[in-house]
Amino acid sequence: MSDAVQTPQTFPTRIFSGIQPSGGLTLGNYLGALKRFVEKQDEGIETIYCLVDMHAITVWQDPEKLRQQTREAAAGFIAAGIDPARSILFNQSQVTAHVELAWIFNCIARMGWMSRMTQWKDKTAGKDAEAASLGLFAYPSLMAADILAYKATHVPVGEDQKQHLELCRDIAIKFNNDYKVNFFPVVEPVIEGAATRVMSLRDGTKKMSKSDPSDQSRINLTDDADTISKKIRKAKTDMDPLPDNVAGLKDRPEARNLVNIYAALAGHTAAQVVQDYAGAQFGTFKPALADLAVAKLSPITSEMSRLMKDPAEIDRIIGEGAARADAIARPIVDQVYDIIGMIRSRQV
Ligand code: TYM
Repeated sequence: MSDAVQTPQTFPTRIFSGIQPSGGLTLGNYLGALKRFVEKQDEGIETIYCLVDMHAITVWQDPEKLRQQTREAAAGFIAAGIDPARSILFNQSQVTAHVELAWIFNCIARMGWMSRMTQWKDKTAGKDAEAASLGLFAYPSLMAADILAYKATHVPVGEDQKQHLELCRDIAIKFNNDYKVNFFPVVEPVIEGAATRVMSLRDGTKKMSKSDPSDQSRINLTDDADTISKKIRKAKTDMDPLPDNVAGLKDRPEARNLVNIYAALAGHTAAQVVQDYAGAQFGTFKPALADLAVAKLSPITSEMSRLMKDPAEIDRIIGEGAARADAIARPIVDQVYDIIGMIRSRQV
């Protein structure tokens, strides 16, 4: 084997994560992912962030909108604090190592593993699963390739991606076992903070999502101050005042969600927030949350729209990121070809 056997601990810490440009970015993406991506970058860890356009096309995307949303997501990353000089920021389709490795992983992963993915089940529930794209079914294998093409060790995500990361671990372990190597790290999901699962503003039992038909259910990173404020003031809640401890939020999904959002935006814990607002009515808490959300999000929104005025510059930034990403992933995927017995004699 071309790669010496390593113990998992010998893999240097490297962070990888991705966001689908399949719609606008939401507060869920910001608190569950983006904000934490920036924190990891600022801790000085090597960080690679990807706009996963190949994942987005597992469901229909209008080509012009996809281009627009990819640029908008890139602008969102930069506006939120990702520095393209310190982090690698790029779109997936510009680095072909991802899809090459995904095919190999399609041959490692088992049908049964994919069938058990709850996101696959949710996305096809009540619909004709036969009509879903093959790409949607194989999606977690591409996600594993995204991560392992860089031998990334840590993956910051929201709660909803946990099962996909477990599958990534299974793929790495099976590959290492099948080929008797210790080539891929077994990744650590990094799911931390007060807002790993931001819920819909209309229904505290549903995840806030860019694909929810109701725009009132989410805050978009492109919403202006007035819209953010209105959406929070109109958010569904119960009639009770806030409790003085987090246990009191049990069975109050909407109240818990607003407290968690406040905590994540303020950089506090939910416990601190309920202590500060113990006994407060939503008539007091919601305006405070609206003001905080506007204060934190408005600078990002305005920076995003400034950046969006120069799409060529965004394309240049993600193109440069893609070249840097390729320089890391190419040799890793070339080693994989060698490990699995592919002849690579073409002269370039
Ligand atoms: P995606 O595009 O749905 O979401 C991007 C990130 O945002 C998080 N997120 C949330 N966090 C908290 N509350 C919410 N309501 C919420 N909604 C979204 C997600 O957990 C995610 O971290 N499969 C991934 C994209 C992906 C990826 C990867 C991620 C592709 N390859 C490799 C990590 C590593 C997805 O669809 O995320």
